[in-house]
Amino acid sequence: MTLYSRITGTGSYLPPRRVSNDELAQELAGRGIETSNEWIVERTGIHARHFVADGVNSSDLALEACRHALEAAGRSAAEVDLIIVATSTPDMVFPSSAAILQHKLGIAGCPAFDVQAVCSGFVYALTVADAMVRTGAAKCALVVGAEVFSRILDFNDRTTCVLFGDGAGAVVLEASDTPGILASDLHADGSHVGILCVPGHVSGGQVLGTPLLHMDGQAVFKLAVRVLEEAARATLAKAGKTEADIDWLIPHQANIRIMHGTAKKLKLGLDKVIVTVHEHGNTSAASIPLALDSAVRDGKVRTGDTVMLEGVGGGFTWGAVLLNL
Ligand SMILES: CC(C)(COP(=O)(O)OP(=O)(O)OC[C@H]1O[C@@H](n2cnc3c(N)ncnc32)[C@H](O)[C@@H]1OP(=O)(O)O)[C@@H](O)C(=O)NCCC(=O)NCCS
Repeated sequence: MTLYSRITGTGSYLPPRRVSNDELAQELAGRGIETSNEWIVERTGIHARHFVADGVNSSDLALEACRHALEAAGRSAAEVDLIIVATSTPDMVFPSSAAILQHKLGIAGCPAFDVQAVCSGFVYALTVADAMVRTGAAKCALVVGAEVFSRILDFNDRTTCVLFGDGAGAVVLEASDTPGILASDLHADGSHVGILCVPGHVSGGQVLGTPLLHMDGQAVFKLAVRVLEEAARATLAKAGKTEADIDWLIPHQANIRIMHGTAKKLKLGLDKVIVTVHEHGNTSAASIPLALDSAVRDGKVRTGDTVMLEGVGGGFTWGAVLLNL
C-alpha cells in the first residue's frame, strides 16, 4: 500500500522579456510616476521581473514548466493522472487553466482543476495533491503554480506595480513507499479580504469594480511575518520535527525583508533561505516552485534534504508544507 507522495521532478519557466528596475522606472516616468532601482531594491530585494508578451497565458507558462518537471522526473505526459494548477490569473473565467494545460500537454481523461489561494496557491495545491496521492486517487500528479500578474497590475500605482511579475513552476508528485511530503498546515481568514485583492468581477458582459490589484503593503507585511512563523511551527509539530531539522526554507518570494524576518523568527541562518525574488519579483502562486526548481538545478537543494515551503497571500491565506526531497 502506498503511504506517501514524493516530488520526483521540478521545472520552471520565466517569459523571455526581463524588465529591470531601471527599465520599469523609465517606463513609469513616462506616466509621471516616480520610482527608482534603489528604492525597489532596498524595500523589496527585487532587481527585475519578467513580463509575458500579448497573447501568452498562464497555461502557456505552465506548459513549459511542466515539460521541464516531467523531463527531470523521467516521466512522459501520458503517465500523468492528475493536474492541479494554482493560479489567480487563469486564461479564462472558465474552464480551468488546468484543463487547458492538459490539452496542451496532449493528454485527456485525468482530473484537472485550478486552486485559487493567491500567493498560497502552490502550498494549497501541493497539499491537495498529496492527499489524493496518499488515498490512491492519483499516482503521478503535476502540481503547478502559474501566473500572469502583469495583466492585473495598476501601472499608475507605484506601491504595487513594481512588486509583481509573471512565471510558472511545477513539480511531479508521485506515489512512494518512502516519505516525501511529511506534513502541511493550511489556513485562511477572509476578514482580511480588503488588504490584498482584485475586487472586480464579470457581470452581464462587463467588468464591475476595478480589475486591478489593490494592496495595503504595510498591513500585508505585518500579517505575513506573523503567520509564516506560526505555519512553520505548526507544520514542524505535526511532523514531529524542530527548526533544527530544516535544511532549506523556501518561502513565498514576495519581499526579501519578509523572508529574512521569518528566518529570524525561526532562528534559521539566512544561508538556509532560498531567495530568487531578485530575479522575478512576486510571481504569486508560481514563486515557490520557481524558487524550488532554481535551487534544485543550482545543486543547492538535494535529494534527501528536508525543505520547508511557505506561502502567504490574498484572502488572507497562508500555509506550509514540510518535505523530504
Ligand atoms: C509595499 C512595500 C514594499 C512598501 O514598503 P514600506 O517600507 O512599507 O514603504 P511605505 O509604504 O511606508 O512607503 C514609504 C514611502 O515610499 C513611497 N513609495 C512607495 N512605493 C514606491 C516606489 N515604488 N518607489 C518610490 N517610492 C515609493 C511611499 O509613497 C512612501 O512615501 P512617503 O513617505 O513620502 O509617504 C512593503 O510594505 C511590502 O513589501 N509589503 C508587503 C507586500 C507583499 O509582499 N505583498 C505580497 C504578499 S503575498
